[in-house]
Amino acid sequence: MEDTEKIIAALLARAAAAEDPRALLKDPEFKQLQLRFKDLPGEHKPTFGKLLNEFRAKIQAMADKKAAERASASVVAIDVTAPFDLNLDHASRPKLLPTEQGTMHPLTRELSRVVDIFTRMGFEAIESRQLDNDYNMFTALNFPPGHPARDGYDTFRTEEGLIPPAHTSTMQNRILRAGKQRLENGEAIASISYGRVFRNEDVDATHEHTFYQVEGVYVSSDASLAQMLAVLRGFFETYYGQELKIKTQPAYFPFVEPGLEFAIEKPAALGGKPGEWLEMLGCGMIHPNVLKMADIDPEKYRGFAWGGGLERLVMLAHGIEDLRHFEAGKLNFLRKFK
Ligand code: DAH
Repeated sequence: MEDTEKIIAALLARAAAAEDPRALLKDPEFKQLQLRFKDLPGEHKPTFGKLLNEFRAKIQAMADKKAAERASASVVAIDVTAPFDLNLDHASRPKLLPTEQGTMHPLTRELSRVVDIFTRMGFEAIESRQLDNDYNMFTALNFPPGHPARDGYDTFRTEEGLIPPAHTSTMQNRILRAGKQRLENGEAIASISYGRVFRNEDVDATHEHTFYQVEGVYVSSDASLAQMLAVLRGFFETYYGQELKIKTQPAYFPFVEPGLEFAIEKPAALGGKPGEWLEMLGCGMIHPNVLKMADIDPEKYRGFAWGGGLERLVMLAHGIEDLRHFEAGKLNFLRKFK
């Protein structure tokens, strides 16, 4: 028994030094011990068996410890997203703010309010894509190839010809196609898409290369401009929490006919004077060609659509004078929106 204990101690010492401690379970010396077990007289078996089992358990524990060390070692080596070098000991690490002192970005927070208002009106809400193609960005929206209105959108393009969309209208064709069946069941398509859009523009207090839009699409057998104005008024009055004066004026967008700009009178509570109009979005009745591109019969169905910038809405609500604050990541701006 004594020599068995010695053999086991030697095997454990080798296991501690081995890359894979479990290899020692296949070692000829250990195999011999296992063979010896079989030939032992019955009264010795329990003690001997216990020694072997303890050996196995120790080997397993060593293997587990090695695996855990390897796992944590590889995290330290590859975690390029960590906010500091994870090899630093605790005392030398930078002091970070507790998570609960962070705040939601004002655009994220306001966007969820916007989505909430429209979903309560019965609209479904989907996030707009951040990469699309020429068909969805232009062709499906009745901008034929080479159409001069394409130039108004200052689009970026990847070398492969993909487009980071310059407006959330890029979602319209998909929404219309997906909703066709609903129309045929006698229901309406009622959908908003929200998200980031991109334009190759010089940045100033009212222009950003990256901003947010919210787009709405409604199609039914009897959709009308009157319904559209009611939806938009309802939205703005709920968002600003007060009654508003609204007006429209004609505007050109290839995907609507008629096309309109929708304005609200700047509320006195937000520093507005009577007669001070703010243009909030573009809208109109969906052009028959846009319905046709989505395989929807414009003789049977009609729709309205609108699209506008989220920043403008939020700037008015919070008296923010410079659009660039939103993307700047400056803490003294962000902390105002606790
Ligand atoms: N996509 C337009 C833009 O970004 C805005 C717009 C105008 C959207 C009219 C619409 C619409 O859905 O009907 O300039």
